[in-house]
Amino acid sequence: MGIIGAGPAGLTLARLLETAGIETVVLENRSREYVEHRQRAGLLEQGTVDLLTELGVAERLHREGLVHTGLSLQFDGERHRIPLTELSGGKHVTIYAQTEIVKDLVAARQESGLPLLFEAEAYALEGLDGERPLIRYRREGGEHELECDIVAGCDGFHGIARPSIPDQVVRTFSREYPYAWLGIIAQAPPSNDELIYAHSARGFALLSMRSPSVGRLYLQVRPDERIEEWPDERIWEELHARLGLPGWSLVEGPITEKGVAPMRSFVSEPLSFGRLYLAGDAGHIVPPTGAKGLNLAINDVRLLGEAIVRWHESGSRDLLDAYSAACLRRVWRAEHFSWWMTTMLHKLPDGDPFDEQLQLSQLRYVASSEAAARTLAENYVGYEPPTR
Ligand code: FAD
Ligand code: PHB
Repeated sequence: MGIIGAGPAGLTLARLLETAGIETVVLENRSREYVEHRQRAGLLEQGTVDLLTELGVAERLHREGLVHTGLSLQFDGERHRIPLTELSGGKHVTIYAQTEIVKDLVAARQESGLPLLFEAEAYALEGLDGERPLIRYRREGGEHELECDIVAGCDGFHGIARPSIPDQVVRTFSREYPYAWLGIIAQAPPSNDELIYAHSARGFALLSMRSPSVGRLYLQVRPDERIEEWPDERIWEELHARLGLPGWSLVEGPITEKGVAPMRSFVSEPLSFGRLYLAGDAGHIVPPTGAKGLNLAINDVRLLGEAIVRWHESGSRDLLDAYSAACLRRVWRAEHFSWWMTTMLHKLPDGDPFDEQLQLSQLRYVASSEAAARTLAENYVGYEPPTR
């Protein structure tokens, strides 16, 4: 199997296939250092933790991960706790950074001595509708090829796998949002034990964390915002204004990372063509407000891994043929949830007062109705739609 991309999707798939004794080669165009330090997601659903545990790569996750049983929504100057575990039949979420998952998976792969080629850029896919597709890649100044039974496109939103599917068989769905997130890592203990999603007249803010001594915080900004416009003092001032409440304040600390990430929703259907299968951001993107991107990527490869193992062991292609449709049911649920959380919590830049009242009404409803809070909780901890 040829796996393009050593993000969470590609590395987890490689590990899953390794446990079934299936040979894989992973190609990654960046360096090990780069993929292990790229700051992204941090909130894991229980299903994600369970899979990493089954695969034997969660020892540090269980030691260092922070288990959360609730979150807070803040609006109208008040904070409301949503007891996720109580409302979801006992499930919880775990804070453990994507960078750490990638480090654990890379270390496990290296320990197994299996091929994971960094600075290897796939640039063309050939023969996808035949029996032996080919990946062409560049490495160390030379051009190489990898012939395989199956190509897994785990190469993220800007990769080459999705554009290799002929246009006439693809349907795409997308939405751009008129805002982005400015995210920071702060060397300061998180000021709250759980996440706070804050709606405010100045825009959305999120308090999250990476460990008991490191905070991860986000601010809604313009999509074309330049990071140079945000010196550290301005970031803290804005975080205080959006998250602060009487009797509670944010602890500051040195900012060691900052960056602006765009927000978009995107789905490409189907997630397969011939012997190419897309997984993770290569096939779909969600805005980060629902914390679903990484979890969807892991769920995709769980299904893809099972399908490949079945084909390898029994010759049956049934799960491979069903892969795209099976994934998309969960993908669309997460698309809706992420869009809903995003549009409920962010300030519209044109300041439409009708929209603002709808948002506040929805937030009050979630904070006061158990049925509405349960809907949020069920989706946030990871909803598994029926397979048919
Ligand atoms: P990726 O992690 O993107 O991995 C794809 C890999 O493929 C990369 O390592 C890339 O270098 C490699 N690659 C690409 N092209 C090629 C090629 N031609 N040849 C070889 N290798 C290639 N989600 C959240 O839930 N919360 C967040 O706060 C959050 N923040 C994010 C911030 C940013 C800037 C981005 C881009 C995403 C964020 N996400 C967040 C989403 C989440 O991180 C992704 O959903 C997750 O990384 C998906 O994993 P993946 O393995 O599918 O893709
Ligand atoms: C994070 O910790 O990076 C994080 C948490 C929850 C989100 C998005 C990002 O909804």
